[in-house]
Amino acid sequence: MWGASTSCYQIEGAVDVDGRGKSIWDIFSHTPGLVEGGDSGDVACDHFHRWREDIELVARANFSAYRFSTSWPRILPAGAGAIEPRGLDFYDRLVDGLLARGITPFLCLYHWDLPQALQDDGGWLNRDIAQKFADYAAVVARRLGTRVKLWATFNEPNIHALFGHGVGSHAPGLKGLQNMLAAMHHQNLAHGRAIEALRAESAGLRVGTIVSLQPARPSSASDLDRNATVRFDAMWNGACLDPLLQGTYPAPVAADFAPLIADGDLAAIHRPLDFLGVNYYAPMYVADAPGSLFGAWFGAVPPGTPFTAMGWPVDAGGLAEELMSLSERYGRPEIYVTENGACYDDTVAADGVVHDGERLAFIRDHLAAARRAVAAGVRLRGYFVWSLLDNFEWASGYSRRFGIVRVDFADQRRTPKASYQWLAQFIKQQKPAP
Ligand code: FCB
Repeated sequence: MWGASTSCYQIEGAVDVDGRGKSIWDIFSHTPGLVEGGDSGDVACDHFHRWREDIELVARANFSAYRFSTSWPRILPAGAGAIEPRGLDFYDRLVDGLLARGITPFLCLYHWDLPQALQDDGGWLNRDIAQKFADYAAVVARRLGTRVKLWATFNEPNIHALFGHGVGSHAPGLKGLQNMLAAMHHQNLAHGRAIEALRAESAGLRVGTIVSLQPARPSSASDLDRNATVRFDAMWNGACLDPLLQGTYPAPVAADFAPLIADGDLAAIHRPLDFLGVNYYAPMYVADAPGSLFGAWFGAVPPGTPFTAMGWPVDAGGLAEELMSLSERYGRPEIYVTENGACYDDTVAADGVVHDGERLAFIRDHLAAARRAVAAGVRLRGYFVWSLLDNFEWASGYSRRFGIVRVDFADQRRTPKASYQWLAQFIKQQKPAP
């Protein structure tokens, strides 16, 4: 399966249309000083109105699948209770449009845009949210479950917990270790309850989750940095996968999570999954960091390492390494690479083309790494590039471009980049002969 990924708040815009409620990202982005350039997702790529053109771009790149997320506050403006039928209608149109073009929809229920009404009630710090999330999942599955077969509960609950609830650089802007741990555990619990709700709606759905997974490597050979790496790996990678797939928190952080775990939680979280979605961007170099959130943080990167415009190290080998270690650790689950891609400072040449050679090379090299993992026995079922369009890149606003299609935010013009053309050709060559 070859696809492109997007998320609702990053592309839809139309934040006041058809009864949509406010999300935590509306509030965060409208708080002065929190997002670069004072940007917000108010308009974004205006995908809410231009989705036909956008899925045409998906089709023309020869993608067989498209990953998107549904906006909880568009569907349940207050987070729970009254359903907004016009919100569901939007995703209904989108799904029908995809299916009509032979594109498989891959739906993610939560890409960080919590209804503000639930935030006012404690958000992910309040364990009652788990049931509300399961109820929302059931509402969406009831409407789309006969046509959408691939369902992910969360996108990167680890990043949402860490940056939204620990560091405070993402919505809802909370800080501190205890907030981060609670947000992580309650998302895990919500995941388990939603899996149950989705299966109760329809036995035929294929359900899983999407996690940001990157190999953690020590910044130096010192014991301090090695120990920090073990803890960092357990917080970032292990805390959101071990409970789901093994029913326990990883040993290095188990004591941190223990006070949050009520009777029955781990059993509720540990549900059989049909697939695992992996978002991979870069390896992480970790250093001992006393006084930081949990004693370990990003450290020095080996000299000579190339970087993207996000400042993330480029290392395609890290993808193969991650896929192989996951496969071994969790008993060879089916895996999709649900995000992989790169941000570079694109320029439009005189001929109107974006010659994004660095992005193209990044994607090409990561596809080769994925192929090595497949050859080594990883059950990789698909690859999704991040992202179809340049979009609202969270705290960086529109200053960072990840799209294989350029978006001119002044007039919403879409221009496929060289990486898009290359991928379209590449995918065509992969298709089995008729
Ligand atoms: C991931 C997010 C996605 C996008 C990429 C660059 O962490 O899931 O929304 O911001 O990073």
